[in-house]
Amino acid sequence: RHTPTTSCQIKSPRSRSLRILVAVTTVLTYGTFDLFHVGHLRLLERLSERGDRLIVGVSTDNFNVSKGKQTVVPYADRAAIVGAIKGVDLVIPEENWEQKRQNIVEHDVDLFVMGDDWAGKFDDLQDLCTVEYLPRTVGVSTSSLKEILRVLDPAHIEEMQSALGVVSRLLDHYRDLT
Ligand code: CTP
Repeated sequence: RHTPTTSCQIKSPRSRSLRILVAVTTVLTYGTFDLFHVGHLRLLERLSERGDRLIVGVSTDNFNVSKGKQTVVPYADRAAIVGAIKGVDLVIPEENWEQKRQNIVEHDVDLFVMGDDWAGKFDDLQDLCTVEYLPRTVGVSTSSLKEILRVLDPAHIEEMQSALGVVSRLLDHYRDLT
């Protein structure tokens, strides 16, 4: 584990650029961030408070397909939304399971963090940087939003139309009797 020290260049009005050593803590996380919700926002807010530079790997559509996940929002839009969140400095595509080690090294990452639904899953990266898992925001997930949106499925709408047809016929029937 290394001390977070990165060389950086500053410019003063009079002098040419001056190279100094400053402590920069770089945080890295990954996720799909489909149907962006408040759980995603809270996680990114907490992560940006943990360091000076936050990098987010957003899973590509192809990677999601390989995991058996179908996203509603395409990669370019998910990446644009995540990149627009205050505190996110860089978005990179997450294209496979294996790229994490390379990303940690190439971006000089100090802290790798995921939500605790992944607890223990990435402990093997501890030889490169600190690995942590943060508690998820309770009561919201992309899966639960998808479940709510299922109401709009054509098959579900058809089911509801046929149920309403039955109710309407029953009402007509009782109206005729009175
Ligand atoms: N996350 C969180 N709190 C939530 C939902 C997600 O902190 N309520 C975190 C996850 O732990 C992960 C990151 O946000 O580190 C990206 O999660 P992602 O899998 O894209 O979102 P989910 O809502 O968990 O999606 P799904 O329901 O498809 O698993």
